[in-house]
Amino acid sequence: MKIQYDRVLAKRNPMLYGQFIEHFHRQIYGGLYSPDSPLSDEKGFRKDVIEALQQIGTNVIRWPGGCFVSAYHWRDGIGPTRSPSFDKAWRVEEPNTFGTAEFYELCKAIGSEMFVCSNAGTGTPEEMSDWLEYCNLNYEGKNAKARISHGYNTPFGVKYFSIGNENYGSWEIGAYTATEWGKLVAESAKMLLRVDPDIELSAAALPDPEWNMELLKHAGLYLKWISIHQYWDMIHNTNDLASYEQCMAYTTDLNTSIDKTLGILTATGNTHIKIAFDEWNLRGWYHPNVHTTAQASNKEDYLTPRDKNDDNSAYTMADTVFTACFLNTLHRYAKDVQMANYAPAVNTRGLIFTHEKGIVKRGTYHVFDLFYNQLGDTIIDSWHPETITMQVTGKDGVHETEVLDTLATKRSDGKVALSLINKHATSPITVPVSISGFDASFAVLFTIQGNGIDDYNDIGQPENIRIMEQELSTFDAITLPPHSVNVLVLSR
Ligand code: AHR
Repeated sequence: MKIQYDRVLAKRNPMLYGQFIEHFHRQIYGGLYSPDSPLSDEKGFRKDVIEALQQIGTNVIRWPGGCFVSAYHWRDGIGPTRSPSFDKAWRVEEPNTFGTAEFYELCKAIGSEMFVCSNAGTGTPEEMSDWLEYCNLNYEGKNAKARISHGYNTPFGVKYFSIGNENYGSWEIGAYTATEWGKLVAESAKMLLRVDPDIELSAAALPDPEWNMELLKHAGLYLKWISIHQYWDMIHNTNDLASYEQCMAYTTDLNTSIDKTLGILTATGNTHIKIAFDEWNLRGWYHPNVHTTAQASNKEDYLTPRDKNDDNSAYTMADTVFTACFLNTLHRYAKDVQMANYAPAVNTRGLIFTHEKGIVKRGTYHVFDLFYNQLGDTIIDSWHPETITMQVTGKDGVHETEVLDTLATKRSDGKVALSLINKHATSPITVPVSISGFDASFAVLFTIQGNGIDDYNDIGQPENIRIMEQELSTFDAITLPPHSVNVLVLSR
C-alpha cells in the first residue's frame, strides 16, 4: 500500500458516525428508554447505552422513523398527558411516552445533534412546520408557547430536519409519484424555512434519475441534504441471513448508490446538496407480513417474528467486516457524503443489544469504536500497485471481489492511521506499507477478529469479537489475519 502523506483528499464530517432510532420493537421502549430499569437514569434512559453511544462519537441521531414516522403525529408525544395511539406502520400500540422532549433530552445526554424526520405520509406541510415551531421558536405563537408551558423555555435547537421517509416506496404510508413528491417537498420546505431559515433540510430520495430529477427540479433550491438508504441483505420477509461469503459478495460495489446520486446532483447543478446516507445496515430488519399488500391477522405471524432481530447469533464477523468496508466507503466519499446513520443504534439489527442486566456490544459496535477513536478525520491519498481479488458466490451469483479494503487517514495529532480490512475467510494477507513524506518510528496495530467467521458476542460471551492491540517493532509489511478489521496507527 502506497500512501502520500501530504495529498489530502477530503475531511470527514464526524456525522458519518451518526445513528438512527425508530419506534420499532425494542429499540426505544424496553431498549434505550426503560424508566423501570435500575440501569436507567432519572429520565428513563439506560445509562449503559448512553455511555456506549458516547464512546463511538454519536454526534447526530435521526428519529422517530423510518416507516413509523409516516403516520406519526408529533402532538401525541408532547406535554404532561400522553395517550397511546395505534401505530399503523408497525401495527402495535404506541404509548407516546417517548416524544419530542424525550428525544431532546436523550440527544443532550449523549451530546448529539437532533435530526428530526417528519411525517410526510399522512402529515401536511403545516403539521411539519408546526413541529418546527414547537422545537425552535423562542416564544412566538401557540406551538412555541406550548413547549414553554411544558417546562422548556429554551428552544430545542433542532438543526437537521428531513421531509419524509421513503415516500417513493409502495410499502410506505403516504407514497407519492416523483412529481407529487417534488411539489410536496417544495411546499413543506417553504413553510419550514419561514419558521427557521437556519434549519438544514433534507428529503427522502433515491439513487434514481426520475425520482431525483423531479425532487431537485421543484425543491433543489431549498435543500442542503438529500437522504438515501440501503440495506444489502433484503430479508424483511424471510430472515434468511446471508452467509459470510454471500456478505463479502455485497462488498463488491458498495459505492453504487452514492455514485448514482452524486451523478444526478452534479448533472443538475445541485452541488450545494450533500448526501445524508441516513439509514444503512448490511441486513434489512425482519418484519414479515407487514410491508406487503396482504396483512397477516395473527400476531404470531407479524409481531412475534420480530424477536428474531434480537438473536445475537445473527451478528457475526460477516456483519463486522461488512460494516468496516462500508465505513471505509463513506470515508472515501467524505467530501459529498457528510452524514450517515446506522440503522438502528440499539436492538433489532443494531450495534448494541440491551438486556435486563446490561448490554452486549456486537462486533459492529467495535468497528464504530475503533474507526471513530483511532482513524483521523483527514483522508489522504493511498493506492495498491497490484489488486488481489477472490471469487465469492453471493445470493445473486459469482463476484470477483477485492480481498483488501483499505483507507489512509491523517489524525489531528499528526499520526497516520490506516484502516486495513482482510475480507478473506481463511487466508491471512501481508500488506507492504510505504508512506511518502512521513517517517514512522513507532506503530500500534488494533485488530477486530473473531475465532471464526460465524463468531458473535452475546450475554455470557460478550468478548468473542473485540478490539485487540499490539505494538509492532517492524511495520513496513503488516500481516492481517483472515476476516479481520484492523487499524494501524503510525507515529513519528
Ligand atoms: O425495515 C425497517 C425500515 O427500513 C425502516 O423503517 C424504513 O425506513 C426502511 O425501509
